[in-house]
Parts: sequence; C-alpha cells; structure tokens
Amino acid sequence: MSPGVLEGYRRIWQPRIDRALEGILEELERDPDVLPGLSAAMKYAVLEGGKRLRPLLALSALRAAGGEEERGLEAACSLELVHAYSLVHDDLPAMDNDDFRRGKPTCHKRFGEALAILAGDGLLTHAFCVLARSMAPERVGQGVLLLARCAGPQGMVGGQAYDIQPVEEAPTLNEVARIHQLKTAALIEASVGLGGLLAAASAEVLRHLQLYGRALGLAYQIVDDLLDWTGADQTLGRPSGADESKNRRTYPRLEGYQGSRKQVLSLLVQARGELCGLGPQADILLALASFVQQRLEEIDPGKRGS
Ligand code: IPE
Ligand code: IPE
Ligand code: MG
Ligand code: MG
Ligand code: MG
Repeated sequence: MSPGVLEGYRRIWQPRIDRALEGILEELERDPDVLPGLSAAMKYAVLEGGKRLRPLLALSALRAAGGEEERGLEAACSLELVHAYSLVHDDLPAMDNDDFRRGKPTCHKRFGEALAILAGDGLLTHAFCVLARSMAPERVGQGVLLLARCAGPQGMVGGQAYDIQPVEEAPTLNEVARIHQLKTAALIEASVGLGGLLAAASAEVLRHLQLYGRALGLAYQIVDDLLDWTGADQTLGRPSGADESKNRRTYPRLEGYQGSRKQVLSLLVQARGELCGLGPQADILLALASFVQQRLEEIDPGKRGS
C-alpha cells in the first residue's frame, strides 16, 4: 500500500471535516442563548489542531461498505466532538493534569477549570444533536446507541475510570489491554461502526469493520504509550513522560519497547485481516493501518530499545 493513497484521501477529506466542524461550532457561537465564553472554549478544544483520525475512519469505513462519504460528513463530526471532550476532561488537574495539548495550552489552562469541564460536557451532549440530526431517521437509534455505548461507562468513560485507579499490585497484561480497549479502542470501534451504519452495511460487514476498529484502536493506544515512554514530545505536542510520572498502567511498562512493538504489529495484522472480504474500497482503512504502523516505525526507542 503506497503512503500516497492516504495522503490523497486526507487532502480531500481533512479540510472538509475541518470546515464541517467549524460550521457546527460557529452555529453555536451565533446562537444568542449560548454564553460566548462557553462556545469559545468548545471551539478551542476542537479546532486547535488534531489529526481527525476518528472522522477519517468513519468516512473510510463508509467508503469500504460501498457508501458515499459526503452523506456521512456531519455524522462523522460527532465522533470528533466526543473525542475533543474526552481530551479536555483527560487533561484536567484531577485526571492527567496536563498543561499542553497539540502544542498549545490545554483548555483548562486557557479558559479555567470550570469552563473547561462545561465545554467538555457541551461537546459530548452536542455530539448527539449533530449525530441525530444528520442520520437517516430509520438509523438514528442504532447510531446513538453505538456512540453512547462506546463513549460511556461500558466504553471510553469506563476505561478512563480504570486508568486513574491507583496501582496497588503489579498490573497484568490483560488488565492493561482492557483499559486501553475501553479508553481508546471503543471510540475507534464506534467510528468505523458508524461509517458502516451510514452505508447501511450488512451485519456481517459491520462485524468485520468493528473488529478492525477494535484491533486498530488498541494498537493506536499502545503506540501512544510508546510515544510518551520514549520521549516523543514533538509528536505528542506536550512534554512526554506523563504516564510514568503518574504511575499509569501502560504496555511499555510491562512489555518494554520490543514487546509493545510486537503487540502493535500483531494487532495490525489482525486489523488488516478483518478487511479481507471487503474488496478494493477498503483501501483507505488499509492505509490507516499503515499510518499507525508508520507512527510506530518513527519512534526512536533511544535508551529504551529493549
Ligand atoms: C490522543 O488521540 C488520545 C488517544 C486516545 C491516544 P489522537 O492521537 O487522535 O489526538 P489528536 O486528536 O490527533 O490530537
Ligand atoms: C487518553 O489516553 C484516552 C482518552 C480517552 C482521552 P491518554 O491520557 O494516554 O491520552 P494523551 O496521551 O493524554 O493524549
Ligand atoms: Mg489519560
Ligand atoms: Mg492524557
Ligand atoms: Mg497517552
């Protein structure tokens, strides 16, 4: 798979996703009932950078299932709103206490803690307005259910809760896998699942898409752990080493660089395997698996190479 395939796709869809997100946030900004400080904090959390991985996954899955991306653009934005909310809350002093995100001050550093909490709440709830108004009426129920399940206590929020529990005994690999599955892979699974729903995919296609998302999402979080562990400040857009200083349960802590790398590569094989029956339109999903692999290959393990 040539890297140009994803580049070309990104060049078309990333600006469209950005414009759609701007439109959603500007609509709130224009609403005289929305406090300007609140809409400004929400806008800051969403529009100041970000790779837009989740909407890109949704559009690529929509394509893989034979649909037209344009029809799913607004619904795909709901995933980015949920993701942006999760980052705002993740960075709060009571959670990861990070001052920088995407190379800029975190939302609470810029707007204060109380408004950042509310901006996160606003992004989460507004995501469901955006999703419900943009899906075909007969599929709204399924879409809302998928996103709510993957973002809530049985998904991302549940994983974040496990993640902040104090470490009392040496964590096991199963425990770390479960946390990562919930806190990160669940929303990635929802992203490809939503793309499939938007294309009215069969139950069988949906199942393969979601299994792809689950494996890719876990690989993505292991790479995120490796970036933090090996000191990739530039890529992270903030000082690294945060996981270790907070005694977090991570893959490199248990498996080292080589073991974590092996896990990522094996998960990417699994993810690609789920696409076998989908045909040539799964090209962008395949390229996104290569993107995660590329992120892994660019890590310089330095002194932590074993
Ligand atoms: C960061 O997500 C948090 C994780 C779940 C690993 P991304 O790496 O997708 O962050 P942005 O949106 O591109 O900044
Ligand atoms: C965050 O995981 C996952 C979320 C649900 C936000 P991390 O805490 O590792 O994400 P970063 O490293 O701050 O982006
Ligand atoms: Mg965290
Ligand atoms: Mg964090
Ligand atoms: Mg991290």
